Amino acid sequence: MSAVFITGTGTGVGKTFVATGLIRCFRELRQPVDALKPVVSGFDSVLPSGSDPALLLEALGRKVNLEELQAISPWRFRAPLSPDMAARAENRAIDFEEAADFCRAAIAANSGTLLIEGIGGVMVPLGKRHTVLDLMIALHLPVILVAGSYLGTLSHVLCAQDVILRHTLDLRALVVSETKDSPVPFEATLATLANFTGVPLLGLRRQGPEAQNGAVFRNLAGLIG
Ligand SMILES: Nc1ncnc2c1ncn2[C@@H]1O[C@H](COP(=O)(O)OP(=O)(O)O)[C@@H](O)[C@H]1O
Ligand SMILES: [Mg+2]
Repeated sequence: MSAVFITGTGTGVGKTFVATGLIRCFRELRQPVDALKPVVSGFDSVLPSGSDPALLLEALGRKVNLEELQAISPWRFRAPLSPDMAARAENRAIDFEEAADFCRAAIAANSGTLLIEGIGGVMVPLGKRHTVLDLMIALHLPVILVAGSYLGTLSHVLCAQDVILRHTLDLRALVVSETKDSPVPFEATLATLANFTGVPLLGLRRQGPEAQNGAVFRNLAGLIG
């Protein structure tokens, strides 16, 4: 029984790629796994396919229907904006305690590995007073930090790592998922980050023989299982 919070240095860095890769890995290992994406924005209820909750449900081998979407992502918003803005655009608000309680109930009920994907980066606002960081602090789960390999990622990673560690959260792994068409050498990014982190550092490639990534996901699964 374990749960882990998958956060990122920003949006589009690879959190869902990591979550779905881990789900497939646990399922291959015949180990029970479940996932939540409590808050999602940019969600089109008419065309849910390709959305984060749909990708998670597909990886879990579950149907993508309203009941299942509601089960893993109760807070769904249409606008592709930060959660606070997307909620405001619908005259709604995310009740922070309700969101935290939703996660706590799932953690308590879970009998395998539960993956909770955050939204956006570490400090994206959920409302007027809370950010994703507050949710991570409230849940106090081990954290996986996912980052891209774009030019500029180093400072984003180190800022995110700093804030996570200052709040005494258990940072289990730092995962760099290769950014498409990045001019920055991937291995050099890992080498530089290794100078500034004490946590396991893993790289997920996009192309070439290394892009099989199976061994990386098995390694990551071992760090959280
Ligand atoms: N290592 C990788 N190899 C292949 N595609 C990747 C990799 N990392 C991210 N992607 C792709 O990049 C896009 C953004 O990643 P995603 O996981 O959706 O980011 P996030 O969940 O952080 O917003 C997706 O299409 C995803 O499949
Ligand atoms: Mg995502």
